[in-house]
Order: sequence, then C-alpha cells, then structure tokens
Amino acid sequence: MTGPTLKGKTAVLTGAARGIGKAVADALIEKGANVVIGDLLDSQGEALVASYNTDGKRAAYIHADVTKYKEIVALFQLAEKEFGGVDIAILNAGIASNSNNLFTDLNDLQDERMIDVNVTSVIKCTKVATLHLARRGGGVIVSTASVAGFHSGGISLAPYTASKHAVVGYTRAFDILPSICNVRVNAVCPYWVETDLITSLHPDDDSTTATPFEKLVINSARTKIETVVEAFMTLIEDESRIGKLILDYYEKKKREFRKVDLYFV
Ligand SMILES: NC(=O)c1ccc[n+]([C@@H]2O[C@H](COP(=O)([O-])OP(=O)(O)OC[C@H]3O[C@@H](n4cnc5c(N)ncnc54)[C@H](O)[C@@H]3O)[C@@H](O)[C@H]2O)c1
Repeated sequence: MTGPTLKGKTAVLTGAARGIGKAVADALIEKGANVVIGDLLDSQGEALVASYNTDGKRAAYIHADVTKYKEIVALFQLAEKEFGGVDIAILNAGIASNSNNLFTDLNDLQDERMIDVNVTSVIKCTKVATLHLARRGGGVIVSTASVAGFHSGGISLAPYTASKHAVVGYTRAFDILPSICNVRVNAVCPYWVETDLITSLHPDDDSTTATPFEKLVINSARTKIETVVEAFMTLIEDESRIGKLILDYYEKKKREFRKVDLYFV
C-alpha cells in the first residue's frame, strides 16, 4: 500500500530515537501518521522529532524509561494532549547488553535489567496502551520480539533469548482481545539487523582476536531493516492480522499457527 494511508492516525513508539524504532517511525510519518516517541536518548529523539515537524506538527518526543509506569503514562498522555488519542502502539525499546553473562559476577542489577527492559516493560506498556486504544474505539499494538523468541541463540544469548520468548508468550495471550475491545496485539520477530544494538555486542571487529561470542555476532547473516519495517506496516495496516501466526522468516518459508500474529523477518 502506498500514499498517506494512515493520515489522521497517531502512533506511540518506545525506543525509537534510533535503530529499528526510528525506521518504523520514518515509515509511519511517510504514511501520514503522527508519531509520539519515548526514549532515553533525548538529544537523538528531539532531533528526530524536529526533522518530522518541518512542515507542521506531526511528532513529539518525551524522555520515557519503559521500565517506569509513571513515564509510560506520561508518554501516552503526551499523545492524547498533542494529537487527541492513540491508534497504534509500537513497543520496541529493548537491550541486548550483558547477553553473554553465565560466567560473570552474581550481580542482581545486571541480571534483572534485561528482563525489566525487554519483558516487564512490554507488560506495562501493553496495559497502558490498551486503555488508550480502547478509548479510541480500537487499535493495534505491535511489540518487537525476535527470532530469539523461538530459537536458541546458545548459552551466550541465553538471557536475551529468555526475554524474547517471554514477549512471544505474552503476545500470544491476547488472541481474543479484539472481540473484547477491538485491540489487536501482534509482534515482529526480526533476525539480526545491523543497528547500534548489534555493534555494541562486538566491540572487537577483528575476527582473529574476537571472542567466540563476538564471532557469532559478526558472522551471523543480517536481515535488512526495510524488511523489518515492512513486517511492522503489515501488522499495523492489515486488520485481518489476528487469530493466526504467520511464520515468514529468512527463506520466506510459510507456516500457519493459531493465535496472534507473529511476523518473522
Ligand atoms: N538489531 C537486531 O538484530 C534485533 C533483532 C531482533 C530484535 N531486536 C529488537 O529490536 C528492538 C530495537 O533494537 P535495535 O536493534 O533497533 O537497537 P537500538 O539499540 O538501536 O535501539 C533500541 C532503542 O531502545 C532504547 N531504549 C533502551 N532501553 C530503554 C528504556 N529503558 N526506555 C526507553 N527506551 C529504551 C534505546 O535508547 C534505543 O533508542 C529491541 O527490542 C531489540 O531487542 C533487534
């Protein structure tokens, strides 16, 4: 579909100051939607929003840590204030730092952080988003899971894999939500995508001195960010995307499952 098919709609996005979230925000702006972004990277977020607002108010930014209810609520309230409501919620903020941590210190904060940012935040944001979307008469939530939500990345990615399996499981629980309040809950499951998140996992680029974990990251194949954006737009725009799970990743292999839409790329 081309043209401003989402004109008049408003999307809230978490973790969209850069990377996959920014690419989805670009596509939403292109399609005519307004966007409201919450992130920790304030200067990048502010600059992005300024670039969207050159021909009139289309976007807003607020510092929002997705692990904190107060900041999530403020993010969605900003969308209400600026654009009168929310139709689309993209729950994308996530981290992969400390993925490789089986043999590291027994550190509470380190081991809880990934679950807080990648899992608990999706639960918190879904609760807040559902209230706003239902008030609007319906809408769609799309979370960023991962192929690691289904497959094992091995010991070195174990905590990240656990976090994304949880996002997939949480998403699958909402197959009857459309009949309750007309809200669809779906997830995109990207393979490796070249973003800052990936770069931060292999500070050593030299494949002769890199650790086995860094070599895994360096040598894994990549999915294009455009392919990931296409998956988000399909789940946003195609209202039939409820009640089944489309497996469409990598070799474009297709299988159908029951329950919510998880779109693999
Ligand atoms: N890049 C990949 O290969 C890949 C693959 C599968 C899934 N994902 C998922 O895609 C999502 C986006 O990742 P990316 O690759 O674009 O990485 P990225 O690091 O470029 O983007 C992540 C964004 O989330 C923000 N963020 C982190 N913690 C936050 C918090 N507590 N509150 C608010 N914002 C926060 C960051 O500031 C950043 O802007 C993540 O959920 C990630 O797990 C990425």
